Parts: sequence; structure tokens; C-alpha cells
Amino acid sequence: MDLAYLAELPREEFITRRKKVFAQMQDNSAFIIFTETEKRRNNDCNYHFRPDSYFWYLTGFAEPESALLLIKRNGEYESTIFLRKKDREKEIWTGRRLGVEAAPEILKVDAAFEIEHLDKTFAEKIQNLTACYYAQGYQAWGDKVVSAQFKEVIDWRPMLSEMRLIKSTAEIALIQQACHISALAHIRAMKQVRPNRYEMEIEGEIQHEFNRFGARFPSYNSIVASGENACVLHYDENSAVMKEGDLLLIDAGAEFAYYAGDITRTFPVNGKFSKPQKAIYELVLKAQKEAIKLLVPNNSIKIVNDRVMEIFTEGLVELGILKGDVKTLIEQKACCQFYMHGLGHWLGLDVHDVGDYSNERSRPLEIGMVITVEPGLYISSDADVPEQYKGIGIRIEDNLLMTEYGNKNLTSGCPKEIADIGEIMATA
Ligand code: GLY
Ligand code: MN
Ligand code: MN
Repeated sequence: MDLAYLAELPREEFITRRKKVFAQMQDNSAFIIFTETEKRRNNDCNYHFRPDSYFWYLTGFAEPESALLLIKRNGEYESTIFLRKKDREKEIWTGRRLGVEAAPEILKVDAAFEIEHLDKTFAEKIQNLTACYYAQGYQAWGDKVVSAQFKEVIDWRPMLSEMRLIKSTAEIALIQQACHISALAHIRAMKQVRPNRYEMEIEGEIQHEFNRFGARFPSYNSIVASGENACVLHYDENSAVMKEGDLLLIDAGAEFAYYAGDITRTFPVNGKFSKPQKAIYELVLKAQKEAIKLLVPNNSIKIVNDRVMEIFTEGLVELGILKGDVKTLIEQKACCQFYMHGLGHWLGLDVHDVGDYSNERSRPLEIGMVITVEPGLYISSDADVPEQYKGIGIRIEDNLLMTEYGNKNLTSGCPKEIADIGEIMATA
């Protein structure tokens, strides 16, 4: 178990969240949530375990094979954790376990049982309850336990996702730290990039910078994509040699105390933008800066993305990459052949955090939400465009907190102006 993470959020925060769940539960109902199980990678090797984000959100408990049961009976609340039993032999091999005895005090729950007793204890505790909140099909190993016990199963995902969407002050501090570490890693990457190094060497530099500041893992597989690899949106092979004259797109974010940062920067392998690279870069940067101005409470990602698509269309016509009448091309969404993804997403415990977006991301933004802003243009080498633009892929991504004053750019420490990046690379 990773005890270090227990220190990151005050325990009261988890209690408050559970109270909010209790308050929303109908009377005489149960609520059960499971975490992940260990996943085998290959013989005798597992993937590093990472708790389910919903489960972590309510428990702050990072061991696999655990479940939380909340019961509301005649207006009274009871919380029970199920976890692996203490096992000296297993602990010698694979690490310490919290155990049933210590769990109630540490996790601030009413009772703890060994996970082996889940079936029996669950059956006892739910007697005479009328409904169960459960995410059927989401956590397969839990389905066996819950299925057939209740006529009424209510999916808890909408409830918990809404709660997770608005971040508390303590959460914002952790996300800010994840963003800060992510920015430092990008700056280090800028200093280390040069022709003939492997993309994965830069991935390693980024990883080491994360680790220096207490972020053990990235919040998603780091994308270090040189040249046309940048046009593969989730390229994470990171196995190519970076070539003189190519751009490098890095999309990498630290996971700090399970909260994600998510930054993308794109810059030349040799430190100097060619004229066509500069033209596309300036267009993406212009769109991104305009989007940052507009992504404020009460606006929506959709409204702002519509403006981004106008800017892209005008710019691409000016460069001769799109041909035709600007207004018609905007109506046809012609720029989307080079801009295939959305403008941004929620950010939190998951890099693609949970929460309803409404149709086409038209949900009005609210204070306390954290989003990404990541316009990009990707022109593959077989696109029907002037030769000099082929194979260019550029994205610029920052993370924004919605505030009463508009927004706060949590990743502003990561340079994106051509001159600033050039200076960092030149002085490396
Ligand atoms: N890194 C994944 C994304 O930007 O959405
Ligand atoms: Mn990203
Ligand atoms: Mn993103």
C-alpha cells in the first residue's frame, strides 16, 4: 500500500464526500463500490496497481481487492470497508497491508471486514433494504456479489461524477501541483531534445522529472512524437530517432496524489522553426490563446470550440491549405480534416475526468471545474495540401481552473511562445 498518498488529502475530505453520498441516498438503501484488482502483465509480473478513481475519491484507500459499503437505514448512516486480510507471508513478498484491525481508525469508517467475507457480510447487512446504488458492469468482479440481491439497482456514476466535477480547495492544490510538475518536465524535455536522440530518451527525462517531485507515474502514457508521428493522436511507441528539421510533439502529464496534469507542447528538434512549421504553430497558438480568453464560467467548451474552428478555417485558407469561401468552409467544418479531436475535457483524478458534458460539450462551465484547452492541427504526408505543410502535427495544451475571476491557467509555467522555447533550447 502506498501510505504516502494517505497524507495528501485531509481525511475529513473523504468523510465529507461520503456524507454527501449518504445525503443523496434514498432511505433504507445500500451503496457499494469496488476498486480494481491486480492485472497480470506477464508471467509473475503485474502492472503497477492503481486504485479506481471513484473508489479512491470516497475512501483514500489504495489497496486492490477492496470494497466500500454504505448503508442508510431509517436515516442512520453506516460505512464498512472490505479489504485484504493481513498475511505475513504475502506481506514479505508483495508489501504491507492495512488490515482489518487498523482500517476503521485510519480510513474513518465504522467497520472493516476481510474481503473473503464480503458475500456473507453483504447479505447480512442489506436485509430489508429496498435499493442498491451500484455501477453494474463497471467493476466486473463486483457484479457477482451484487447481482440478484436487489430489484432496484441505481447507478451511482451520475451522482459521483457530478461531485467529482467540481473540485474542492484541497483538490485544486493537488491538481496545481500535478500541473506544476508537468510543466517542469516539459521544460526539461526542451533542454534535452536534439537530433539523433530517441523519443524514448525524452520520455525518460520527463519521467525522471516527475519522480524528482513525488509523482511516481504519468497520468497517461507519455506521447513523445517526432515528425509525422505527431499526426497519430495517441502515439506512445516513442521509439523513433528524432531527426533534424522535424518537430517534436510532447503530450505528457504527471499524476500527483492521483490527480492528473495534461500538457502538450510542440517545438523543433533542432530548436529552430522552419517557415511552414512557424506558420502552423502560430495559427494553433492564436487559436489556443483566444480559447483561453473565452473559456470562463457560463461559456461552454462548444461555444469556444466553434470560435477555434473559425480561426483555424480563416488561417488555413490564408495559407492555401484549405481552398474556398471561408463562410462555407466553416459551415462544412472543413478544418476538422486537420483537427480531429475536441477542444478540451474535464481533468481531475482521471486525465479524461468524469462528468456530464451535455450535447457536444455545451454544458456551461462553472467555478471549480478544471478543463484542458488543446487545439491542434495534424497534416499527414498524404494530405492534398502544399508540399511544405505535409507531415506537420502541432498541438498546444494547457489546463484551466474556472474561477470567479474567469480562469486560472494552471500550466502557465510551461513556455509556449516561439521566442521563449527557442531561448530555453539555445541555452541548454
Ligand atoms: N493526453 C490525452 C489528452 O490530451 O486528451
Ligand atoms: Mn494531453
Ligand atoms: Mn488532454
